[in-house]
Amino acid sequence: MDSRFTRRAIVRAILLGMASSTLTACGGGGSGSAPPSTPPSPAPSPNQPDDPETPEEPECPPEETAGAQPPRGLHASWTDDPHTTRTLTWFTDGTTDPGTRVQYGPITGDADSCSLTTAAFPFEVTGAAHETYGVEALTHVATLTGLKAGQAVRYRVGSDNGGWSPTRVFAPTRTDGFRFCHFGDHGLQDASQRVLSNVETLAPDFFIVAGDLSYANGDQPVWDRYFDMLEPLAARVPVMTCPGNHENKDGGGQGYRSRVSQPGKGMYYGFDYNRVHFFFSTGGSLLTDLSSTTELLVELAAMEKDLAEAWRRRRDGEIDFIVFVQHYTLWTNCEGRDPANFALVAVEEQILLRYDVDLVLVGHDHVFERSHPMAYGKQSDNGYVQVTQGGGGQSLYDLIEDPADWAAVSRVCHGFTVVDVEERRIRARSYAVSDEDGNLYPEGEEILLDEFTLAPRVTAPTGITPFSTREQRPARSLAELDVDLNAMLKHTLQRNLTHDMNEMH
Ligand SMILES: [Fe+2]
Ligand SMILES: [Fe+2]
Repeated sequence: MDSRFTRRAIVRAILLGMASSTLTACGGGGSGSAPPSTPPSPAPSPNQPDDPETPEEPECPPEETAGAQPPRGLHASWTDDPHTTRTLTWFTDGTTDPGTRVQYGPITGDADSCSLTTAAFPFEVTGAAHETYGVEALTHVATLTGLKAGQAVRYRVGSDNGGWSPTRVFAPTRTDGFRFCHFGDHGLQDASQRVLSNVETLAPDFFIVAGDLSYANGDQPVWDRYFDMLEPLAARVPVMTCPGNHENKDGGGQGYRSRVSQPGKGMYYGFDYNRVHFFFSTGGSLLTDLSSTTELLVELAAMEKDLAEAWRRRRDGEIDFIVFVQHYTLWTNCEGRDPANFALVAVEEQILLRYDVDLVLVGHDHVFERSHPMAYGKQSDNGYVQVTQGGGGQSLYDLIEDPADWAAVSRVCHGFTVVDVEERRIRARSYAVSDEDGNLYPEGEEILLDEFTLAPRVTAPTGITPFSTREQRPARSLAELDVDLNAMLKHTLQRNLTHDMNEMH
């Protein structure tokens, strides 16, 4: 451990990181708007101009990063424990592997702030490279381990031959409350950038892109530009993703698979973040032919098993909430989009409702909707709340004239949702960054569209409520589900091939 970092240097780095990204007024010009009330977690960024309040600090010398194959498109995620590991993914041009190294160390101790970028790194890990789909480039992946809660980490990626990234800083992971942001259908538009800059301002612990990431639509270099756009945020804040139908247009998902690093095999996965369990699903997005139908069945069985176990752990007071993420809406009031695939939704709802999933986060329909607690297309007190945040940046869709009554809010706009989990309560706020024609609001005048809270179904960690005394609900085999699986697979295939594969925006 390097002992040359002062507390002052850390605070300075944190303040500098926040100074460039203070959300002054989310919706300052609109009714119901409000800035975030929870202080952002630190998201420091080294090598920024001197803080006027600390003029005596020396200007830091430039970092030596030069090389023939510099890292680009750097983004963080986790493929293992969210609190003690970080997986870093980046790209280099050409097919020669210059090396996959990460140098890192905790930020602590005594020293001037320039040491953030100039001091030797105490630790190093070596990863591996593989071909990036569709371009002459390599994807590099390496995982840092042994990180400690409450401790910021500085790092750089690359190699002596290829060159190094600038030093980046991870904010400390938190073990109690946390914040994450959610949007889908991102792309490379002005609205996509605006959503990102707002998310950066809110300094979440991680952010979710719920499918339809780059809209490369077969043009693979678009992915390079996408991750270049993401890097300033995603090199500091982990990004967790699921594939959408547009990921299917790049070699049946190969473009996506070769560029992101997520838990498991990267397509569907579960993890706990503090006292919240998440399950990310493909929603059948990558089903392209009959030979791939087995993958969806395996995934649905895994989802059943994962959520059954999460239900048991929540009953026993180990966690508070269960959140499900996928690209496709279960229910929608988007014009011409409902039902997208009722057969698959019927299967998913049987699972989500059996295990009392609290929150469903989706995209796909380029609108914003938030449901009341619902089940089977109707309001239901014990159901889940669905948040459709498909306005991440791509062109907007229309809503039907008369939205179904499960919808609490339905709006056409670009935007994002920020979720705070504090003191065993979920508080979600959704912001619009544009009007219904896609015209961006002035920066700092984004509008708060919606806010809701969720209380845990099990009211005490000790599990003393009637709800928590329920019998275990064991995971079922797919054969036990009340559904024609063949019809479901056929319908999902049909959805992907006829509707979504023709959608280019
Ligand atoms: Fe989309
Ligand atoms: Fe989509």
